[in-house]
Amino acid sequence: MSKTFYLTTAIDYVNGHPHLGHAYEKVITDAIGRVHRSLGESTFFLTGLDEHGQKVQKAAMEQGKGSQEYCDELAASWQSFVGMLGLDHRDFIRTTQDRHKKVVQTILSKLHAEDHFYKATYEGYYSAKQETFLTEKDRHEDGSFDEIYGEVVRLVEDNYYFKLGRHQQWLIDYIEANPDFVYPDNRRNEVLGFLKNNTLEDLCISRPKSRLNWGIPLPFDEDYVTYVWFDALTNYVTVPASMGDPALPGFDFTSDNPPSLWPADMHMIGKDILKFHAVYWPIMLKAAGFQLPKQVCVHGWWQKDGQKMSKTTGNVVDPVAVIDEWGVDAFRYYMLRELDIGPDGNWTDDGFQSRYAAELANGIGNLVNRSLSMLNRYRNGEVPAICNELEDEVNNVAQEVIDLSCQHKLQGALKRTWELIARINQYIDQTAPFKLAKDPDQAGRLGEILYTLVESCRVIAVLLNPYLPGTSAKIYDQLALKDTPDLFKKSKWGGMQAGHVVGKPNPLFPRKDLPPKK
Ligand code: ME8
Ligand code: MG
Repeated sequence: MSKTFYLTTAIDYVNGHPHLGHAYEKVITDAIGRVHRSLGESTFFLTGLDEHGQKVQKAAMEQGKGSQEYCDELAASWQSFVGMLGLDHRDFIRTTQDRHKKVVQTILSKLHAEDHFYKATYEGYYSAKQETFLTEKDRHEDGSFDEIYGEVVRLVEDNYYFKLGRHQQWLIDYIEANPDFVYPDNRRNEVLGFLKNNTLEDLCISRPKSRLNWGIPLPFDEDYVTYVWFDALTNYVTVPASMGDPALPGFDFTSDNPPSLWPADMHMIGKDILKFHAVYWPIMLKAAGFQLPKQVCVHGWWQKDGQKMSKTTGNVVDPVAVIDEWGVDAFRYYMLRELDIGPDGNWTDDGFQSRYAAELANGIGNLVNRSLSMLNRYRNGEVPAICNELEDEVNNVAQEVIDLSCQHKLQGALKRTWELIARINQYIDQTAPFKLAKDPDQAGRLGEILYTLVESCRVIAVLLNPYLPGTSAKIYDQLALKDTPDLFKKSKWGGMQAGHVVGKPNPLFPRKDLPPKK
């Protein structure tokens, strides 16, 4: 059985509302998954929620709710958000599910039995807000802690520790030998720099129940729950393990039809959680005897109007509001086209609206509209004989778009596609079919142009399918094609058959009258 391309997003903290950063991460991951589908591979895209920990327990208590009840309510809104984004995901994990508890506890028992943990007394500082222990190194010169840590308290506490230090040199060697393991290179260098310049401290993997009960109980000590990051990272193996993936032996799940998912091909994450994914996670997997994911892909962070997004100042982009007003494909397009995977991005409403007007309404929208209108007007919608005038040119661009897509250069693939759209719009202006239509002697030439136009629209729909799946489907629909634009190989010139009758045009991205600028 050939391996399925398995890709994941980070799992979002349930206590908060979906924001632009969450939407972006899901959309770029979805696009990559769909690229692999368009290549004919089977794919499995996992996303979900991180539900345990002190923040959730506290928030639930403040609302007078049980922790599970609180999570269930929020999970419903996260799931509807995922639906709005049009994701092609195959599962949605919640860390409060039984399958996940079982996997976390199995791994903990195994690591405990194999002597990877020890119990010790911790005495020092603790940030409940970040759920993390702090050291002298984390203090400012005046003795205070950064405000991101919230209230910092002194603690004396017995806990379980995971011996990380013994894996440090192995991990350095691994990352050096596998240049694609952390993408892009600046993030890889960041991890290597950290590993080479610091001695890894052992990781505290427990929290006493007396202080925090909202977590997965340690299987070997009932007075403790599992540290939320150990719990959360494990989600990536929970799903394949619970489906009986043979690459993850030792879990007590059976299946008649086990998948081949592990190791993950890609974990997509934001830059703030790099250490967890490129240091702790590989060490956890190595200790448990499982293969490492092929790649940790690190995207940048969005700002709005050059400022950090923040609920308190109201400087946020609400993805739900944008989708309601402009449609999901316009939202996907702006994020994918504006920001390559890696650097930080900046959302501006003006930037969004001008891309919408120029590239969506006028670019692709106008091309499809003009092409279909003219074919309907001049030939009653009937596709003329095949014309090869732009065959090589379009096939070459399509191949470039496919190559960029394969390299996960999503922004580059869209740029190239829009160059093609501009080229075909320009072809209409240059060949002026609306003039030729007035001259019966030019009927043959008009037919060639009309074929070229509708076939170009069809090719563009195939290329857009991973990025703007709704738009791609609409184009196929307006072309009245029975087939679907689901595979890149269908972009090959000549798919439109002479005599086929296309449908009527319907604006893909209606023009919007915007209120005058203040
Ligand atoms: O970190 N721009 O959850 P989270 C782009 N539960 N991406 C952003 C962003 C922004 N402004 N803000 C956040 C957690 N993100 C953990 C993950 S994984 C085993 C556990 C990204 O809800 C962030 O970088 O705080 C992360 O990848 C994701 O959103 C979830 O963040
Ligand atoms: Mg966060």
